[in-house]
Amino acid sequence: MPSRPEPDHAMRLGGRTAVVVGAGTIGPGWSNGKACAAQYARDGAVVACVDFVAARAEETVARIRDEGGDAFPLCADATDAAAMAAVVEQVVSRTGRLDIMHNNVGVGFSIGAPDAIAPDAWDREIAQNLTSAYLGIRYAVPAMRAAGGGVVINTSSLLAVRFLKQPNVGYSVGKAGVEALTRACAAAYGRDGIRVNCLRIGFAETPLIEKGLEARQLSPEAREIELAKSRAKVPLRQEHTSPFDVAQTAAFLASDDARHITGVILNVDGGLEAAPL
Ligand SMILES: NC(=O)c1ccc[n+]([C@@H]2O[C@H](COP(=O)([O-])OP(=O)(O)OC[C@H]3O[C@@H](n4cnc5c(N)ncnc54)[C@H](O)[C@@H]3O)[C@@H](O)[C@H]2O)c1
Repeated sequence: MPSRPEPDHAMRLGGRTAVVVGAGTIGPGWSNGKACAAQYARDGAVVACVDFVAARAEETVARIRDEGGDAFPLCADATDAAAMAAVVEQVVSRTGRLDIMHNNVGVGFSIGAPDAIAPDAWDREIAQNLTSAYLGIRYAVPAMRAAGGGVVINTSSLLAVRFLKQPNVGYSVGKAGVEALTRACAAAYGRDGIRVNCLRIGFAETPLIEKGLEARQLSPEAREIELAKSRAKVPLRQEHTSPFDVAQTAAFLASDDARHITGVILNVDGGLEAAPL
């Protein structure tokens, strides 16, 4: 049997176009989306950085270009069907292809069980976390199918399967839906050569988490104590996940190294799901 050529890990995404939806960051530093966009570019892809705040997409693009990578910004709301259709159209007309669709948008600050959450907050969380992924897939798949294949990466959270002291029910249900969507799409699109996988992130230290801490108005000391307690729960070296742990996993799943992996919900959590309660 002829041996398969070794993949070129230096540029494992060379010649491909990746779209990262939610590629900016809500504060200084690296978000998951920004790190994934940078990692795809480091691995050779041209990256469309999509965000509903234009300046955030532009900032990620500037960072990628500073490193010598190739990226361009697009401004669109991931929950708006027409805007997402236009994103795909622009990406294909600009680069001639769409190989990787990374649905990173997600947020959940409505803490509580259903009777504590207003109906519009519920709708917003389902839209942000679940509808955004549906729309990314809905519009990317025809372009991928026409090209003979592609890769979708969705974003879930450990909160799809575990709860904090208080439930965050809209977020959890949205993310559980993203996991179900991933499996359904892997089955539906396998024959088209389209792989669909999902990252289930534990606790990544990003500006999103900073914002959550800020909202609790803790003193700097109390904040550090909270973070230390949270880190101590992670089995692997008592460290939180970093955005580049997420990004390296995403780049692996997006590459041909993962050519026979689809329908997988992959924990990137330092073992947090396996930790004792
Ligand atoms: N940080 C964590 O610990 C953690 C844990 C589990 C899961 N996650 C998931 O990771 C993903 C993102 O994390 P992050 O750190 O990159 O977040 P982030 O909030 O820092 O960055 C997300 C970017 O998405 C943009 N955005 C938000 N809503 C949008 C919309 N409707 N359309 C277009 N852009 C939009 C924001 O402007 C922002 O620039 C989310 O799906 C989140 O649920 C994070």
